[in-house]
Amino acid sequence: MRFSQIHAACFDTKDYTRKFLEEANRSPEFGFEISFFESRLTLQSVRMAEGAEVVCPFVNDDLSAPVIRSLGKMGVRLIALRCAGINHVDLNTAEKCGISVVHVPAYSPAAIAEYTLGLLLTLNRHIHRAFNRVRENNFSISGFMGFDLRGKTVGIIGTGKIGLAFARLLQGFGVRILAFDPAPNPAAAQKLEMDYVPLDWLFAESDVISLHCPLTPENVYLIREETIQKMKDGVTLLNTSRGKLVNTSDLIEGLKSGKISRAGLDVYEEESEYFFEDRSDRPIRDDTLARLTTFPNVIVSSHQAFFTKEALENIAQMTLWNIANFFRNEELAKRENYQKSAYQSLQEVF
Ligand code: NAI
Repeated sequence: MRFSQIHAACFDTKDYTRKFLEEANRSPEFGFEISFFESRLTLQSVRMAEGAEVVCPFVNDDLSAPVIRSLGKMGVRLIALRCAGINHVDLNTAEKCGISVVHVPAYSPAAIAEYTLGLLLTLNRHIHRAFNRVRENNFSISGFMGFDLRGKTVGIIGTGKIGLAFARLLQGFGVRILAFDPAPNPAAAQKLEMDYVPLDWLFAESDVISLHCPLTPENVYLIREETIQKMKDGVTLLNTSRGKLVNTSDLIEGLKSGKISRAGLDVYEEESEYFFEDRSDRPIRDDTLARLTTFPNVIVSSHQAFFTKEALENIAQMTLWNIANFFRNEELAKRENYQKSAYQSLQEVF
């Protein structure tokens, strides 16, 4: 099948997105016509997809009902997400409009797990602050006291690909691992010496809590005032999953009171206006984000846990493979229908 006539419109692209997708697209098994747009997919920019059969959005693109309806009217047949999470896609509307949705379920769980561990070690030992202090010729270590991870309890919420990769990394630290997941994995639990416990138990006993579950309607604000109160005093909270899992105002109250001693956040509930962009020439209008970045014991990063060479290669490969697969299956289905109707008309003749 020739793919050169299939047009894919990629939104929210950066130079690195383009580089990896172009490299992957040079393979003889792909060869699509790809347009790259820096703009996010929104109701205003959706017109840019005119003439494309496929759109390739990223995590913060708008895939609400009105945008999807516009894509449907323009003849788009496939939304090929360049990310794992699908929480931002109105799947019902896509189905109604006859648009299929595919995503990249796993491109490098290790990338996100390693980054999460990086946040934990940096926050615990104040490495981010030491870096700045020494550059100012201040060699004091006051205020930088951390704790040994050995002997502490780490609670992992969500033990899918990333949660388990994080648990594997923790094996060398001598920590006790508690886990919560509505679909537990007993084999992994045994191998990793990890105990599944009820969520409240995990909250009560963990010194470190790390979120690795997807955002669903049921777990919006999984971390809020009521659940923070159930946690140990001085808990460290890590979120490299999705911003809306945490009620940020309640987190800020927890940080102010000292209930939460450290927070490592690679995602933020209102990140779409800021993350991935250079906003250094203007003030932050979001007071909650601005307040978060004032805490020395909080690291906010701009949704970069996935950002490794290996992950970008895999995202590009998988995205193009998803598109190719969609059109190959469509071709196969057409052939099968054609054979069926040819067979039926033969039966009618004889
Ligand atoms: P996965 O689908 O392999 O695992 C998710 C696990 O969470 C499943 O075992 C599921 O049963 C469990 N789960 C669902 N609801 C839960 C709840 N309320 N409480 C506890 N567990 C629950 O997903 P994977 O690949 O491990 O990714 C996890 C999340 O990480 C993604 O949904 C995405 O939001 C986030 N992510 C973040 C990235 C970043 O760059 N910061 C990059 C990639 C993914």
